[in-house]
Amino acid sequence: MRAVDIIQKKKEGSVLSKEEISFLVKGFTQNQIPEYQMSAFLMACCFKPLSFKETLFLTESMLHSGKIFDFSDIPFRKIDKHSTGGVGDKTSLIIAPIVACYTVAIPMISGRGLGHTGGTLDKLESIPGFNVHLTSGEFIQNLKTLQLAMMGQTQEIAPADAKMYALRDVTATVECIPLIAASIMSKKLAEGIDGLVLDVKFGSGAFMQKLKDATELAKWLVRIGESSGKKTLALVTNMNQPLGNKIGNSLEIEESIEVLKGQGPKDLIELSLTLSGYMLLLGNACSSLKEGISLAQKAIASGKALQKFQAMVKNHGGDERVVESFKYLPSAKYTFKFLASKGGFVGGINARSIGKAASVLGCGRETVTDVIDPSVGFILHKKVGDKVQKNDILLTTCYNDEKKLAASMVELSQAFEITLKKPLSQPLIQKVIAKSNCQK
Ligand code: URA
Repeated sequence: MRAVDIIQKKKEGSVLSKEEISFLVKGFTQNQIPEYQMSAFLMACCFKPLSFKETLFLTESMLHSGKIFDFSDIPFRKIDKHSTGGVGDKTSLIIAPIVACYTVAIPMISGRGLGHTGGTLDKLESIPGFNVHLTSGEFIQNLKTLQLAMMGQTQEIAPADAKMYALRDVTATVECIPLIAASIMSKKLAEGIDGLVLDVKFGSGAFMQKLKDATELAKWLVRIGESSGKKTLALVTNMNQPLGNKIGNSLEIEESIEVLKGQGPKDLIELSLTLSGYMLLLGNACSSLKEGISLAQKAIASGKALQKFQAMVKNHGGDERVVESFKYLPSAKYTFKFLASKGGFVGGINARSIGKAASVLGCGRETVTDVIDPSVGFILHKKVGDKVQKNDILLTTCYNDEKKLAASMVELSQAFEITLKKPLSQPLIQKVIAKSNCQK
């Protein structure tokens, strides 16, 4: 077999075999196939998209390029959640301790923030002492004792994806649904899970801008999961404004704790309860979504979910007192109030602009080597549809550096739209894609 013949075949739109795809992925991972050939193949996939079967073969080849966790000795169903990323999305921190209160275990391998979106690991690391660099052994131990384990992506998990993704990033081949689906699912299937709930976001703050594209991606993800023998379900959710009211690493820890204490903003509670409900359903801890949501509410009301969160923080070496008082979390030195320039209704909050403003302020990174400031961020006081008077506070910026504040204000000035008419309210959860409706 030769890589050039496989690339030629794909360029002509022919269907590749399992062996051909495996040959490419294996050869590339083992440095036998050079980057220029893999780049050409990836570009061919953008113009002559992979069929579902080819995408499944690609996912399997990428999955088997590394370690696959085996949690068969843990006597619970293993369920994870994956979000395609957004602004203010801290649901992982809320739902994992909720679901772990029942007969389900959550092995969660999370990522870092890049560009305008945040990452779970950065949020967790804002808790003083919190160590996300667990060995596989520690990860398994946490899963056994707490039914909940969190860690970062390692070189061992789907290394083919890490190598291919780095190439896609610089060859304009990221935006291709089969390639995205194979990339996400190869990493998730390596977690040794029985089921997966996906949160596929669309809108200004999301990877996919259009509902149609997010729905299409959700269908591919569910089909791959189900074809791999995992119960898989996807919500397609609105990311046209940030989720919740707090954006920034330690601020998002605060808001997650607030929700676990039975407080917090409506949209974040709705999504967290629904995701938890579906995870409990896939984990066979209940027999309907309604029951799952009710169990999630009970875990919050009883304080058990908060205790799980606190135990998880302790297990990772973090300061567990953050649950009792936010004074133990890093906080910014200064605040700046961003005011409404006129009265009316908040017609839109561009989540991408807020995400970019947060990144510039120090919450995120433009390149993987940038150092983040855990204490800075935004507190939103108004959301889409809220009435505002001129000079009402739309948002508070928590900052440490005047220059960064000024740069983030440039982005922020684009973010709010004030309209005369109240905008039509849009559901946060737009679609649920399951096995029964994931076929094209
Ligand atoms: N996230 C991933 O993990 N992979 C992609 O290809 C795109 C987004």
